[in-house]
Amino acid sequence: MSDVDEMGLTPEAAQGYEQYFVPAIFDQWPPRIIEAAGVGDGDSVLEVGCGTGVLSREVIKRVGSNGSVTGLDLSESMLGVARSICPDADFQQGNAMDLPFDDESFDVVIASFVLMFVPDPVQAVSELWRVLKPGGRMIVTVWENLSQNPVYAGLVDIARQRIDDAAGTSLAWPFALGEDGQLAEICGSAGVADVDISAHDGRAKFPSLDGFVRTEIQAWVLADSVDEESLSSVVSDSQERFAEYCDASGAVDIPLNAVMASARKS
Ligand SMILES: C[S@@+](CC[C@H](N)C(=O)[O-])C[C@H]1O[C@@H](n2cnc3c(N)ncnc32)[C@H](O)[C@@H]1O
Repeated sequence: MSDVDEMGLTPEAAQGYEQYFVPAIFDQWPPRIIEAAGVGDGDSVLEVGCGTGVLSREVIKRVGSNGSVTGLDLSESMLGVARSICPDADFQQGNAMDLPFDDESFDVVIASFVLMFVPDPVQAVSELWRVLKPGGRMIVTVWENLSQNPVYAGLVDIARQRIDDAAGTSLAWPFALGEDGQLAEICGSAGVADVDISAHDGRAKFPSLDGFVRTEIQAWVLADSVDEESLSSVVSDSQERFAEYCDASGAVDIPLNAVMASARKS
C-alpha cells in the first residue's frame, strides 16, 4: 500500500473519495454554498479543507478570469486528485488552524464539511475570519448531529457491534459538531459577529446498500483496516435495518442533513 499522508490518507483513499463519496454526497452542495456566499465575478476565494476540489472547481467557473480560487488542505493525497481535475485553481498543502496567508486577503472564505476533523475548530474559524477582507463573506458547513441523521446513527451502532468501538467512533466523527447551537458557539468564540445559522436538508444516494456500507467503511479513513467477514456482517445487518431507504432497483436514498454558518465581515 502507498504511504499515508498527514491526514492518514493514501492516494487510493483520495481517489476512492472522489469516485464514490463525491457523487453520492458532496457534489449537491457547491451550488448551494456558492449561492449562500454570493460568489461573483472577480472574487478571490479561499476554500479551506478543499479535499479533491469538488467546490473549488465550481467556484472557479463563477469568479472568471479576474478572480482566483485557492484551495488548501492538509492531505497531499486529496490535493493530488484536486490538481489533476482542476489545474487552474491554486491548491496548497496547509493546516486550517494556521493559514499561510496575510490578514484580509480574500473576498470569500469557505470551509465545507471540514471543521469536525480539525483539533481546534475555534482556532480554524479565527483563521478564516482573519484572512477575510472587510465586507467579505464566510461560509462554514458541518453535518447535523447523529440524532438528525438517523441512518448514519444506525450504521454507527452496527459498526460498534460488528467491528469494534473504534470503527463506530470513526464513522461518527463527521457528525461531531452538529449539536444544536454548537456551530454558532464556535463562531462566537472565534470572534465572528452576527453569524446566521441555517439547517439544510441533503441526501446521500448510493447505487446499493452494499455500496453505501462499503464506501462509508472502506473508502476513507478506515480504508483497509476492516476485514471482509466483519464488513459482510455490517452489510447484512444494514440490509435488514435500512430496507425502507432502498427502491426496487436496490438503490439507496438516505437523508443527510447539514448546518450552515454564514457571516459578513464589517
Ligand atoms: C470530508 S472532506 C471535505 C472536502 C471538501 N470540502 C468537500 O466538500 O468535498 C474533509 C477534508 O478536510 C481536510 N482536513 C482535515 N483536517 C484539516 C486541517 N487541519 N487543515 C486542512 N484540511 C484539513 C481533509 O484532508 C479532507 O480533505
